[in-house]
Amino acid sequence: MSVSKPIRLALLGCGTVGTEVVRLLHHQADDLTARIGAPLEIVGVAVRRLGRERGDLPIKENLFTTDALGLVKRDDVDVVVEVVGGIEPARTWLVEALRGGKSVITANKALLAEDGAALHDAAAEGGADLYYEASVAGAIPLLRPLRESLHGDRVTRVTGIVNGTTNFILSSMDASGAGFSEALEEATELGYAEADPTADVEGFDAAAKAAILASLAFHTRVTAADVFREGMTGVTAGDMASAQEMGCTIKLLCIAERGPDEAGVESVSVRVHPAMIPRSHPLAGVGDAFNAVFVEAEAAGQLMFYGRGAGGTPTASAVLGDIVAAARNRLSGTRAPSESNYAHLPIRPIGAAVTRYHINLDVDDRPGVLATVAGVFARHEVSIATVRQSGREEDAKLVIVTHGAPDANLAATVDSLSQLEMVRSIASVLRVEGGV
Ligand SMILES: NC(=O)c1ccc[n+]([C@@H]2O[C@H](COP(=O)([O-])OP(=O)(O)OC[C@H]3O[C@@H](n4cnc5c(N)ncnc54)[C@H](OP(=O)(O)O)[C@@H]3O)[C@@H](O)[C@H]2O)c1
Repeated sequence: MSVSKPIRLALLGCGTVGTEVVRLLHHQADDLTARIGAPLEIVGVAVRRLGRERGDLPIKENLFTTDALGLVKRDDVDVVVEVVGGIEPARTWLVEALRGGKSVITANKALLAEDGAALHDAAAEGGADLYYEASVAGAIPLLRPLRESLHGDRVTRVTGIVNGTTNFILSSMDASGAGFSEALEEATELGYAEADPTADVEGFDAAAKAAILASLAFHTRVTAADVFREGMTGVTAGDMASAQEMGCTIKLLCIAERGPDEAGVESVSVRVHPAMIPRSHPLAGVGDAFNAVFVEAEAAGQLMFYGRGAGGTPTASAVLGDIVAAARNRLSGTRAPSESNYAHLPIRPIGAAVTRYHINLDVDDRPGVLATVAGVFARHEVSIATVRQSGREEDAKLVIVTHGAPDANLAATVDSLSQLEMVRSIASVLRVEGGV
């Protein structure tokens, strides 16, 4: 076997993911060399704090620098691996690398979702590869299937659990009947939630991933700002109990779909919110901090991707896969598939997205309540799928599940219901996915 001269890597970031990238590169060096046809060599590692304790990393101390931009600009760098995160200065580094013809591998979902265009444009300008498998769902091979394997098909819908922290919290609420705060506390103690869990529980992390998935699935640039986002902090133990009574559970879902809007214009809807799904749905059984993504395509039908969505080693696995692909391309003089955004589909606002609601009302126990409530739904052109009445007097309840309707009509229905004197309170409102 002939082995070419080394492919030289600049590693930006050596934290949770970066240290595992270094370890895997070291432990699998011989196999990687055989697979690529050239050895991989780290020529520099940019970090924020030079003196930080990094355990027994198999890398020379003198390779560390705080000058990431200087490292990126070096002539002896072929591939830049960015595992720092955040918008700036990461964008400046990566644009510089790509324009200079260097291959870039990044796990930075925030940057890709906010300004992926800057990276794709720079890659086109520099004739460089841009890979980002680790940015969505950690170890799960998902972006390459969307970007390559499914390119002969037409993807119609992507539904995913793409945030492990919130999945752990909701799975724990489902299993134990705990409330949100209690389950969050448990997640924090076990290291599944960060000290500031806002990005996870408010759905920002999932929204960034939804934008990346939708862009790839629908050949259209979708940014985080295009994604409707509702976090899961409002999901109560009562909501979970309601879901369980219906044979369902609650998951924080990212949903990206394409189809005609009311005027018949093909468009894209992308949203992140908690939703009730039946126990029979393939995503209902995804427990703990696991991720899973359900892809529907016209010819392929239904596909399910499942695995670890975060963690240093699983995420490093995805980064290494991209490094191998980029290194092979450099050796053979070929390129990764470039961005495909030819469809330019318009984004449908949440109000025009067709959703279904599950509404739990505390109502007065007297004749005519059901007819009045049903009248409110009819007035807003929302059709009712099922109604369940239970309890007497103070405990009188109505649980209503609708058919699909524009989200704006459903929201207006809930607003009108809240103004009815016979509705004592709206105990819960949840969107519903799957055949409930
Ligand atoms: N952790 C996961 O499970 C996971 C999963 C999927 C994707 N990701 C993505 O991977 C990326 C890295 O995540 P992580 O968890 O590894 O982060 P992390 O543990 O916080 O590590 C960040 C690294 O970046 C370095 N850094 C920060 N600012 C810098 C600057 N201005 N110049 C040079 N280096 C700088 C830090 O240096 P010091 O070491 O000196 O502080 C540290 O080594 C993020 O984009 C994240 O969204 C992470």
